[in-house]
Amino acid sequence: MARRKVSIVGAGNVGATAGQRIVDQELADVVLIDIIEGVPQGKALDLAESGPIEGYDCRISGTNNYRDTANSDIVVITAGIPRKPGMSRDDLLKTNYGIVKSVTEEVVKNSPNGIIIVVSNPLDAMVQTAFRVSRFPKQRVVGMAGVLDSARFRAFIAMELNVSVENIHAFVLGGHGDSMVPLPRYSTVAGIPITELLPKETIDRLAQRARDGGAEIVSYLKTSAWYAPASAIVEMVDAILNDRKKILPCAAYLEGEYGINGLYVGVPVKLGEKGVEQVIEINLTLEERAALHKSAAAVKELTDIIGV
Ligand code: NAI
Ligand code: 2OP
Repeated sequence: MARRKVSIVGAGNVGATAGQRIVDQELADVVLIDIIEGVPQGKALDLAESGPIEGYDCRISGTNNYRDTANSDIVVITAGIPRKPGMSRDDLLKTNYGIVKSVTEEVVKNSPNGIIIVVSNPLDAMVQTAFRVSRFPKQRVVGMAGVLDSARFRAFIAMELNVSVENIHAFVLGGHGDSMVPLPRYSTVAGIPITELLPKETIDRLAQRARDGGAEIVSYLKTSAWYAPASAIVEMVDAILNDRKKILPCAAYLEGEYGINGLYVGVPVKLGEKGVEQVIEINLTLEERAALHKSAAAVKELTDIIGV
């Protein structure tokens, strides 16, 4: 089989950690690219030098030149800035919009047949930016958030019940923001819905902790999380490269599904070699559907500001 290639734009905390996990798992050769000179090169060389000890033969390199990313199977976009003191949400939105737009233009030139996974925040508006700018088919532009948000929910359920995380499935839908929608009815332990195992107050507490999961890490680290985000990226990369056809919550472009049109929102999708191969429509109660629409409206506010 030809060697697979994954390029990661932004060799910061999330990007470099995702690169590390991809070569550790021997999923693909990795190119780290960043605007800062030396950082992608240094991190990639350090990771290449751990190959003999860890036992991976995947190549990892760092660059500031998009030509080195040519013909990637997947490009992961983590480039952007985090919110700084005194900066409004709109300032962050506009700054990262400019970054994601210019990065996407380079991706289109250098990897015209690749699949783009967007990670930069605000996630749903940034993946919509990459979709509009790239003009790629919707199957080939997808956003990472739901895998992370549901992993947090799963971790909290496992801690509460003192059971293996492997037994737990959970779905968190909607935008990657305060209005995201954890779905307890579809969250199970060994196939049993958590609604049969935990009182409502406990479920509400765990769901709120999942919603606040990003902020909880920021309160400790004064910057955002990267280990779980990198794991979430790698699960998506693996599903695509190995055509696993995994059902995962991802930000996907909706055209009528769930009554939402022309917008990226987190929903369950089938992820395989073609990217988003199907949007899975699950039955929602009126309340769940209203929460999803409220979350979509919050995403639309942002996409309207940047006009994508
Ligand atoms: P970081 O600051 O550690 O890394 C970002 C990197 O992007 C920096 O190395 C920077 O030099 C680079 N960069 C900036 N502009 C660039 C450009 N035009 N071209 C190439 N590289 C560029 O930040 P971190 O923690 O890695 O987070 C990255 C992004 O991912 C942030 O927007 C963050 O909010 C987002 N994020 C999203 C998550 C999700 O669930 N979707 C989870 C965690 C983080
Ligand atoms: C997170 O959820 C900040 O989006 C980032 O950790």
